[in-house]
Amino acid sequence: MFNWLEKNPFFFTVVFLVVFSIAGLVEILPDFAKTSRPIEGLKPYSILEVAGRQVYIKEGCYNCHSQLVRPFKAETDRYGEYSKSGEYAYDRPFLWGSKRIGPDLHRVGDYRSSDWHSNHMWEPTSVVPESIMPNYKHNFTKNSDFETAYAEAYTNKALFGVPYDEGENAVKLGTLEEARAEFMKEAGVIVEEMKNQDIKDAFDRGEVKEIVALIAYMNSLSQARRSAE
Ligand code: HEC
Repeated sequence: MFNWLEKNPFFFTVVFLVVFSIAGLVEILPDFAKTSRPIEGLKPYSILEVAGRQVYIKEGCYNCHSQLVRPFKAETDRYGEYSKSGEYAYDRPFLWGSKRIGPDLHRVGDYRSSDWHSNHMWEPTSVVPESIMPNYKHNFTKNSDFETAYAEAYTNKALFGVPYDEGENAVKLGTLEEARAEFMKEAGVIVEEMKNQDIKDAFDRGEVKEIVALIAYMNSLSQARRSAE
């Protein structure tokens, strides 16, 4: 039926371009819709959470975990509310991932606790006997990197307009000293929840281990924590 088209390079090119521009528009247009703006009440990551996000990227967790709950019943039953585009507005880079060797993590903060993560990251099989996830014991000894996290948050504010320090319930960036005090305060809460004596002792010496930041980031992957007022 379309033999004549294949034999006519000029018309073939024209039809090809028309069909592909329609497909292109379908992909691009949603980006201009209101839904791709930050969803109501979306909070930027705190410095501790940014530090944890950096650990997540460094360790390559996205190779096995996605962060995108699709709008299918099987997924919303397992993970919770499906992901909205406006929830990623402050994510740089995006960590959607493309593989699910492990479960999706976009709502993990809604159903796992700091203590659970602590045990799981130290030795996954201690809480999920059949787990094939590697352990992350080295994150319990390495210190988290406050300065780099502060620099990243600062850059996101200055270059990309991520709204730190804005409004009443704002996530504060402040000066380096103020940010460090807030970082330690938030870390103290996670350390308390983790119930791990070595992490507590290190914290008493003024050290915040990578695992503490990573757990703060895991907890922030929660519909309630990131977008509620
Ligand atoms: C080699 C693949 C692999 C890598 C890399 C990996 N995971 Fe996993 N992860 C899994 C698998 C498989 C499971 C399911 C079994 C389990 O719960 O341990 C899992 C489970 C989890 C869970 C529990 C989720 C739930 O809903 O119960 C969390 C949280 C998690 N991983 C976090 C991480 C973090 C953080 C990193 C990076 C530091 C990471 N994972 C790296 C494979 C991986």
